[in-house]
Amino acid sequence: WLWFGVITLIIFLLVTGIMAFAMDRHPADGHERTVAPDQVLSTAPFDKPGVYPVGDKEYQVVMVARAFNYLPAAPTVPAGSTVHFRVTSPDVIHGVAIPGTNVNLMVVPGHVTEFTYTFKKPGEYLLLCNEYCGIGHQVMMAKMVVQ
Ligand code: CUA
Repeated sequence: WLWFGVITLIIFLLVTGIMAFAMDRHPADGHERTVAPDQVLSTAPFDKPGVYPVGDKEYQVVMVARAFNYLPAAPTVPAGSTVHFRVTSPDVIHGVAIPGTNVNLMVVPGHVTEFTYTFKKPGEYLLLCNEYCGIGHQVMMAKMVVQ
């Protein structure tokens, strides 16, 4: 049983290490993109939050998560689109979660969170904050429209 524990620990450290160093999945590495939180709304691209085409059925969604809403409030893309989210916050920690997908981001003030997801099915997806951020947390939501 001791060996079982040791081997489990080694597997755990290997998975964590590969995720962090080979797949670049970790919260802070010292060279991530940052924006001064109090200047988010005046710093490109976050001064113009919105949906920008970057290729064939490929869009960048520039998003600001702030107490207690999102800019833009209803990003809209065609079905089958690959969406590159770029999100930051000017105030406190927020979340971006889209139930039914694996979009689940933590948005740290001034840190640019990036995530790519392909929306295959058309519909209106609920996009909500899943990090407690203050008295308006429970009403902080938007919708992701896939047409
Ligand atoms: Cu924003 Cu909870």
